[in-house]
Amino acid sequence: MPKPKRIFVCRECERESPSWLGRCPSCHAWNSFTEIAVTKPQRTIKSSHTGHQPKVLSGITSEYEERFSSGTCELDRVLGGGIVPGAVILTGGEPGIGKSTLLLQVASNVASSQGSVIYITGEETAGQVKLRARRLGITGDDLYILAETDLESALEHAQIIHPALLIVDSIQSVYTPEAETLPGSLNQLRLSTQKLMSWAKNNNCPVFITGHVTKDGTIAGPRVLEHMVDVVCYLEGEAFQSYRILRSIKNRFGSTNEVGIFEMQAKGMIEVTNPSHIFLSDRLANTIGSAVVPTLEGSRPLLVEVQALSNLTVFGQPRRVANGIDFGRLLMLIAVLSRRCSLKLGNQDVIVNATGGIRLSEPATDLSIALAIASSYRDQPVDPGLTAVGEVGLSGEIRAIPKLDRRLAEASRLGFKRCIVPDKGLSSCKATGIKLIPVSTLRQALKAGLTEELDKNV
Ligand code: TYD
Ligand code: MG
Repeated sequence: MPKPKRIFVCRECERESPSWLGRCPSCHAWNSFTEIAVTKPQRTIKSSHTGHQPKVLSGITSEYEERFSSGTCELDRVLGGGIVPGAVILTGGEPGIGKSTLLLQVASNVASSQGSVIYITGEETAGQVKLRARRLGITGDDLYILAETDLESALEHAQIIHPALLIVDSIQSVYTPEAETLPGSLNQLRLSTQKLMSWAKNNNCPVFITGHVTKDGTIAGPRVLEHMVDVVCYLEGEAFQSYRILRSIKNRFGSTNEVGIFEMQAKGMIEVTNPSHIFLSDRLANTIGSAVVPTLEGSRPLLVEVQALSNLTVFGQPRRVANGIDFGRLLMLIAVLSRRCSLKLGNQDVIVNATGGIRLSEPATDLSIALAIASSYRDQPVDPGLTAVGEVGLSGEIRAIPKLDRRLAEASRLGFKRCIVPDKGLSSCKATGIKLIPVSTLRQALKAGLTEELDKNV
């Protein structure tokens, strides 16, 4: 005969709890828990199959349509339109980038709109979380902070509270006794995530997990967990810049490569709804070596300033420095400018910088980078009302790029009057309010983009 287990039950609403509670989380009655003994039902031997039956696709209903908002448009966009119940979302990023801050804000938003939220903190004490909450102006009546590293015991509490959202900060700090290794080890990370996955699915409750990554990736980071969870997003940013970019790289419920842009301020992560405006706000008109590119981050157009500086090499090999763009791409563009446009960059140091801490990775930004380098080398400014977009090929040709309409609409919205575009694929383009300058070669683009004044070198 199995030993009876003792549990506590609320007299008012019959809610169960493994420990005595002063106030029932469901019906909020005070002093209503009484202890009772229950005998576990004896395990029956099951047949090997799980009992799942094949279902016709058209007859299956999906609960994944019932998303709810995280209270932050930028995060909702990255998640594909809101939080899906039962989803496990991994938020990675370097220490200090703002993961805990962002998730505490989300916890507070969801607690006020959807119901209870549990924030399991394995790294900080409840007092430290309280300090951060005070800084963020969060009171959080329905927000439970649980300073616990034992995942099993944390999930027992979650089972009682039935939260609308569970947050685990961080996955490296929690452990499950089953794995019998130290917290943060590969085995622990895998097993803990597996536990959270099945808990989320069984309870139809979304779970946010934070995870640290290091620059060199030597310790087991959340990258090993990427294949297990439903959504993976990374919070990125430069150490000395206040902008943070949340980028999804995997999303079972939406498109990837969407970005959300935030600014870390004294009172937390503030969403940036008009990022192009901010990225261009420090731009000086008629600056030499500066060009603006309408780039795409996921489906979102973003205007970014590219700056370049070329300077005579004083000693030895010419240096090339690429901040926010691919180094190989910079070398390629310098080679094309030298060979196809007769720019003598062989004895020049060239430094290129994408401003605002943004990383430009798409080939469509080539033309603006080349324009900025040529502008600096020739000491000729780029027309301030002009923007340029296009991929540069090795023969100096300008190649077609995707989604030109969207880029042009954003450029026009921010007051740009002219745009240098590839002459291919223009028939379907319906740009309004901006004059298009179609070009087929980089040489033509430089002629159209650089103003004649200050022409000293060439
Ligand atoms: P944190 O969220 O603790 O980072 P992570 O969880 O990714 O390690 O953020 C820590 C940094 O953010 C810290 O340097 C202080 C800064 N910060 C602000 O600038 N404003 C704020 O309102 C808060 C809470 C933090
Ligand atoms: Mg943290």
